[in-house]
Amino acid sequence: MEQLLRNFFLFLSKNKTLTKLAKKYGLRFGAARFVAGESIALATDVIKDLNQKDLDVTIDYLGEFVDNEKEANEMADNSILAIEAIGKEKLQSQLSLKMTSMGLDISDDVVMKNMKRILEAAEKHNVFVTIDMEDYSRCGKTIEIFKELKKEYDNVGTVIQAYLYRTVDDIKDLNQYNPNLRLVKGAYKESPEVAFPEKKDVDDNFKKIIEMHLLNGNYTAVATHDDAMIEYTKELVKKHKISNEQFEFQMLYGIRPERQLELVKEGYRMRVYVPYGNDWYGYFMRRLAERPANVAFVLKGMLKK
Ligand code: FDA
Repeated sequence: MEQLLRNFFLFLSKNKTLTKLAKKYGLRFGAARFVAGESIALATDVIKDLNQKDLDVTIDYLGEFVDNEKEANEMADNSILAIEAIGKEKLQSQLSLKMTSMGLDISDDVVMKNMKRILEAAEKHNVFVTIDMEDYSRCGKTIEIFKELKKEYDNVGTVIQAYLYRTVDDIKDLNQYNPNLRLVKGAYKESPEVAFPEKKDVDDNFKKIIEMHLLNGNYTAVATHDDAMIEYTKELVKKHKISNEQFEFQMLYGIRPERQLELVKEGYRMRVYVPYGNDWYGYFMRRLAERPANVAFVLKGMLKK
């Protein structure tokens, strides 16, 4: 049943008509639990509140699978506005973004021009930028773009997904760039030809890449809500005397907020991924796919109306 629901929501997450309708009708069905609002002003208020609790942030202007240059350029403009807001309001925040929102499906030229504009604005305001990882068909290209940008800019990192078979090789290959990487389990529906179908194998691979990347001496963001993975990281850093300055935990806005605060109290750096904007539909569907309890929450919200 759980797997069926998961596949259903991942299938819905790619529906273009529903994506367009969602943009038109605003945050619905409990999406506000996971999305900070539709404007940068609302997102800024949320970030200030999190920062006051000693939580760091990475902000994401929601958008993906853009298929025309005008829209990709507008997406980049909005990310630059977010960077300027971070600078102006002195927010403890980085920026995250997706390559398909910058024009990955249009041309290399469009995506590189947009990324350079963003990274230059980010350098000015001392903001670090993480390139989110999307589905497998875009993974190789995204890593190539990251490598190209990393040669020119220091303030860029990317995401590596534990569920892919290629991941251990990617960690080895990327080591030459000493990258700041966010490590995650992976959120898209992938075929068993490219990704581990069993959760246990994903978890084992997750532990393996956390260990490899940390022991390579690289900055590591362990992005998970899973206590088993958090405990594993704590023990690993203790065993190898790795400083708290070399890693951080990350969680998504609206998920396990109490746990986020506990980790801060324990002395760890904790960063919350805060999405905002009107293209919330695909992001929201992936959150529902991850956890059936989230679906129950949405249904309760709908029944109350
Ligand atoms: P998983 O979903 O396997 O859950 C394991 C356990 O964690 C549960 O059994 C439960 O004990 C606990 N748990 C989880 N949610 C809980 C809740 N709401 N309440 C209580 N307990 C809960 N993916 C991707 O493909 N590309 C990307 O760029 C990113 N970026 C990203 C950034 C950040 C900051 C995070 C946290 C995650 C991502 N992801 C992502 C998503 C990631 O790949 C993954 O889908 C989700 O984090 C869910 O996996 P978990 O590791 O949280 O554990």
